[in-house]
Amino acid sequence: MSNRISIAVDGPAGSGKSTISKIIANKLNILHLDTGAMYRAVALTALEKGISISDVKAVEGLLKGLDMVVTYEDGVQRIFVNGIDVMGRIRTAEVSKAASDIAVIPAVRIKLVEIQRALSEKYSLIIDGRDIGSYVLPNADYKFYITATPEERARRRLKEQQSKGLETNKSLDEMVKEIIARDKTDSTREFAPLVRTEDAHYIDTTDMSIEQVVSAVLDIIQKGKQ
Ligand code: DC
Repeated sequence: MSNRISIAVDGPAGSGKSTISKIIANKLNILHLDTGAMYRAVALTALEKGISISDVKAVEGLLKGLDMVVTYEDGVQRIFVNGIDVMGRIRTAEVSKAASDIAVIPAVRIKLVEIQRALSEKYSLIIDGRDIGSYVLPNADYKFYITATPEERARRRLKEQQSKGLETNKSLDEMVKEIIARDKTDSTREFAPLVRTEDAHYIDTTDMSIEQVVSAVLDIIQKGKQ
C-alpha cells in the first residue's frame, strides 16, 4: 500500500486555489502541482508559434512535438517546454484566456492529465485545477471545491495583477466580465469540465481570509480520511 497522499483542490478562476494549495503544501511538507500552469504553458507555446487556438488540428500537431517536463526545485514547481522554462511568461491576461480556450481540446487534456497522474504516482501532492477530483484523481484522499463570487474573484485578480505590475489598465467591471466568461468556458466544455463533485468539501471563501481558508482545509485533513 502506498503512503502517498493526494489532495484535490478544484474551483473557478481567482478562487485562491493556488495560493491556498501552496501554503498547505508547505505546512504538510508535500508538493503542490498547479495544473492551470500546465494549460497556460501549452497556450503560451501556441501563441508564440502563431498557432490559432481554435484550429484543433494545428493544436494537435503542436502537441505531437511538444515535450513538457514538470519538475521541482527546492519544492517549487517549474515547467519546461522543449527544454525552456516558461514559468515567467504564463501569467498574462492573453495567456489566461488562451489557456481556458485551449483546455477545451480533448487532446490537450489527455496529454496533460497523463503527466499529472504520473506525478501523483511519484509524489504526495496537493493538486489544484478544475477537473482534479472529478477526472484526474477521482480517488484522491481529500477533495475540496473552493469558490467565491465573481466580483470577489475579480477583485482578488485585479489586486494580484496590480501588485505584479500587470494589467493595471483594467477596470473591476472588465475583470468581472472576463472571470464570468472564463467560468463559462471552463464549466460548459464537453470533456472534463469544471464541476463540483458530491464528495468534495465545499468552501465559499468570499468572506474568508487566506488564513481562514487554510485552517478550514487543514482541519478537515487533520480529522482524517473521508
Ligand atoms: O487555474 P488557472 O487560472 O491558472 O487555469 C488556466 C486555465 O486552464 C483555466 O481557465 C482552464 C484551464 N484548466 C483546466 O482546464 N483544467 C485544469 N485542471 C486546470 C486549468
